[in-house]
Amino acid sequence: MTIQARKDEHIRICLEHDVQSEVPTGFSSYTLEPTALPESDARAIDLTTTFLGHALDVPILISSMTGGSPLGTRFNTILAQAAQTYGLAMGVGSQRVALEHPELEETFSVVRKIAPRRVLFANLGAVQLNYGRGIADCLRCVEMIEAQALILHFNALQEVLQLEGNTNFSGILKKVSSLCRQLPVPVIAKEVGCGFSSQDARRLEEAGISAIDVAGVGGTSWSAIEGYRSSDAVLHERFRSWGIPTAQSLVSVRTVAPHVPLIASGGIRSGQDIAKSLALGASLAGIALPFLKAAAVSKEALMRFIETLVMELKIAMFCAGARSVADFAGVSCLFCGKNSWVNAATAR
Ligand SMILES: Cc1cc2nc3c(=O)[nH]c(=O)nc-3n(C[C@H](O)[C@H](O)[C@H](O)COP(=O)(O)O)c2cc1C
Repeated sequence: MTIQARKDEHIRICLEHDVQSEVPTGFSSYTLEPTALPESDARAIDLTTTFLGHALDVPILISSMTGGSPLGTRFNTILAQAAQTYGLAMGVGSQRVALEHPELEETFSVVRKIAPRRVLFANLGAVQLNYGRGIADCLRCVEMIEAQALILHFNALQEVLQLEGNTNFSGILKKVSSLCRQLPVPVIAKEVGCGFSSQDARRLEEAGISAIDVAGVGGTSWSAIEGYRSSDAVLHERFRSWGIPTAQSLVSVRTVAPHVPLIASGGIRSGQDIAKSLALGASLAGIALPFLKAAAVSKEALMRFIETLVMELKIAMFCAGARSVADFAGVSCLFCGKNSWVNAATAR
């Protein structure tokens, strides 16, 4: 099967089947400490922020998904229109397909045409550095969409369960480190639904990674997706919920890498999830499958979904006493222990 056909198959599986992990993200164990004295006007809540030095209207990322096929172009077009309209950041799907077939570059570059001033992230699998790809290819991915940063995705479980998987991850970190030194834009390390451990975060920071997207368990499961492509899905079912729940991964990574900008993703489904992510130390929250599903209905459905997310985020901020994204530094997120709520900082 060609990569283009595989990409479309992934999209169709995601739209037609339940590909959700069975384990929750962990955000339901947290609550934002509310205040009855917000000392602000709800209508004046400010969602603008910066990430890696670039301005955003809202602290939300359309996580990397599509490109490389006609279906991918359709989704990239609608998603980029939303990024342009609401000032979200957006990642494109893996650009490996366009490195192999330059005639497909347009399925990615369309995003920059539609969102000329937005923050866009290029995307390539880290393991590709062991399969003939190097700095020139990464640079090509960045240039293709005039990206502000390159996301390198780490997807060990997906590769090992995928029929066509690239399974040799030996020596990857050294290559990532060399890439970080040479690439003229920041490199973001991203999982795809299994989360990073604190140990991973330490090693990635040492390697020179500029930001980490934890992409933990609780949302889309690649084991589930690949299971629908396999004739023998026993192993896929066993690994459906493999990894670290998103909230846990976020808190662990934040603790060991306090100065690395973080993106919380993997099962983020509501404005309150976004607010909790920001209170737990993320700079942005990333969402993939719900955006894809809304875009599959219509551009208007996607716009409505984003407006609801933004409204819910604003209400949560107002009721927690945060007037701006920067104010989250002073908002407590309480963790529900066995019998009581404790400040998340103590719960870590
Ligand atoms: C159809 C689809 C395609 C995806 N393709 C990529 C990809 O090419 N590169 C990547 O880093 N992540 C990819 N992802 C993973 C998402 O970016 C995200 O990490 C994951 O789906 C968890 O977020 P969610 O629970 O909000 O869906 C893809 C996800 C979906 C649903």
